[in-house]
Amino acid sequence: MVAGARGGCAQAGAARRGLLALLLAVSAPLWLQAEELGDGCGHIVTYKDSGTMTSKNYPGTYPNHTICEKTITVPKGKRLILRLGDLDIESQTCASDYLLFTSSSDQYGPYCGSMTVPKELLLNTSEVTVRFESGSHISGRGFLLTYASSDHPDLITCLERANHYLKTEYSKFCPAGCRDIAGDISGNVVHGYRDTSLLCKAAIHAGVIADEVGGQIGVLLRRGMSRYEGILANGVLSRHGSLSDKRFLFTSNGCSRSLSLEPDRQIRASSSWEWINETGDQVRWSPGQARLQDQGPSWASGDRSKNHKREWLRIDLGEKKKITGIRTTGSTQSNFNFYVKSFVMNFRNNNSKWETYKGIVNNEEKVFQGNSNFRDPVRNNFIPPIVARYVRVIPQTWHQRIALKVELLGCQIAPSNDSLVWSKTSLNTVGSTNREDETILKPIPSEEMPKGLNVITIVTPLVLLVLLVAGVGIFVVLRKRKKKGNPYGSAKAQKTDCWKQIKYPFARHQSAEFTISYDNEKEMTQKLDLITSDMAG
Ligand SMILES: *[C@@H]1O[C@H](CO)[C@@H](O)[C@H](O)[C@H]1NC(C)=O
Ligand SMILES: *[C@@H]1O[C@H](CO)[C@@H](O)[C@H](O)[C@H]1NC(C)=O
Ligand SMILES: *[C@@H]1O[C@H](CO)[C@@H](O)[C@H](O)[C@H]1NC(C)=O
Ligand SMILES: *[C@@H]1O[C@H](CO)[C@@H](O)[C@H](O)[C@H]1NC(C)=O
Ligand SMILES: *[C@@H]1O[C@H](CO)[C@@H](O)[C@H](O)[C@H]1NC(C)=O
Repeated sequence: MVAGARGGCAQAGAARRGLLALLLAVSAPLWLQAEELGDGCGHIVTYKDSGTMTSKNYPGTYPNHTICEKTITVPKGKRLILRLGDLDIESQTCASDYLLFTSSSDQYGPYCGSMTVPKELLLNTSEVTVRFESGSHISGRGFLLTYASSDHPDLITCLERANHYLKTEYSKFCPAGCRDIAGDISGNVVHGYRDTSLLCKAAIHAGVIADEVGGQIGVLLRRGMSRYEGILANGVLSRHGSLSDKRFLFTSNGCSRSLSLEPDRQIRASSSWEWINETGDQVRWSPGQARLQDQGPSWASGDRSKNHKREWLRIDLGEKKKITGIRTTGSTQSNFNFYVKSFVMNFRNNNSKWETYKGIVNNEEKVFQGNSNFRDPVRNNFIPPIVARYVRVIPQTWHQRIALKVELLGCQIAPSNDSLVWSKTSLNTVGSTNREDETILKPIPSEEMPKGLNVITIVTPLVLLVLLVAGVGIFVVLRKRKKKGNPYGSAKAQKTDCWKQIKYPFARHQSAEFTISYDNEKEMTQKLDLITSDMAG
């Protein structure tokens, strides 16, 4: 049926191409509408073992006349667990608004309205197609779904809060993709989180799991505090919170102590800022001032030009250590509003080359979200940890001037097992070995972005235009067929097929930034094993 419909669509598209192209040229807004109508998917993050998926605009109202269809899988041989965190679809009949799961052997749903919906489904397959469709409606949040393989029967959704559980100690599995789901957390990793905080988001904030991957969390419930601090960590902002009865902490692997540094011997930088103040004294913002625990001005770079992305601050730990996080501040001086907004990390051992720290999922340089003012410390965690003697912070964007204080978190390495971490992942080499302090780094590629972007901005509209022409053609012909009474089923089904054709190019284009997929699963397994064993230890 699908194939037949598509053939017909394509023909009609050709026939009407001239007219439609003209039409489209004058009515660009039409495309936008097509895009909205065709794509009802919202936030989607998939990892090989778990993931999160919502309807468009969740938790806001989902749009009229949309479809979201996606097939999710876990490794072959495992069973899929689906957990619905939220379902709010405005329909009592499920005729035009519904959520439906279809596997090779079973169908679950359609679900809608006020019907009782199972919170959790354990399928006997490793693959399921999720389909959400909306007609015309006024309200409704749509849905939030998480999934995992049957290896994780303690899967929770991104919406579970600590006050949903009464036990004082428990373990749960957080799926990939909870970071960007709406909902508050308050507190921090050291003192604990208010019990009203979302568990999985707090775990990402705490550096216990990476958003792209998810993972097991261990939770301890404790007596509450009168006030909870709000800070930025791992790209998640926790808010200030008031007195609560209970708070929670995460069980830790014990590898997040502050690594001590001797300022003059162990911290170097590409340049530093010096100037003469009004009383004729020389004021230095030297690398030795880059320790977070020290009072006074920070390190600042000599160069304040925007495009000079080769400044660095280098720390020598004296020996190879396991580094699980970094805390940074800006200048800490109210009259010098300087701070680093984003940075990347390099690391190396005695005689090896500098390597770039990469994201856990894609093979790209990981850009960390840094400070948003000159004063407050911001934490970022390395999952998996860096194991190295030297690390280098390379600012990418900053406010006014590069100014940094840092603290590294981590521990001594256990004698045996650590080499596994980085040898397998073989990271990018960005610099030369010897004189690394003077001659540095090839320019970091971000400088070249504009060229690539230009190409994309030219090509994409062309491609979209062509697809749209075809798509509208398809739509028109199907409507005609319907009038003639064709054998392919209901009008809605046809519309669906055609919309699908229009939808896909847009959907891909649009969801690229949300959907995370894998290239190298074997490698990931090794890294994950490591994380898991870390957390257990
Ligand atoms: C899966 O479950 C359905 C019923 O729920 C059953 O009919 C089917 O045979 C099962 N398939 C497998 C592979 O176990
Ligand atoms: C859907 O369309 C109806 C009628 O045009 C309108 O009243 C309603 O607000 C729309 N709903 C949404 C979610 O846009
Ligand atoms: C100039 O710098 C010196 C040494 O850091 C300091 O003692 C003095 O107060 C500064 N003067 C002004 C006007 O800031
Ligand atoms: C690196 O150098 C330090 C001091 O120079 C030395 O103690 C250590 O054994 C060296 N490590 C390796 C792996 O060569
Ligand atoms: C090394 O790893 C093995 C299993 O991978 C584990 O049993 C052992 O305890 C680890 N040793 C250390 C020192 O962490």
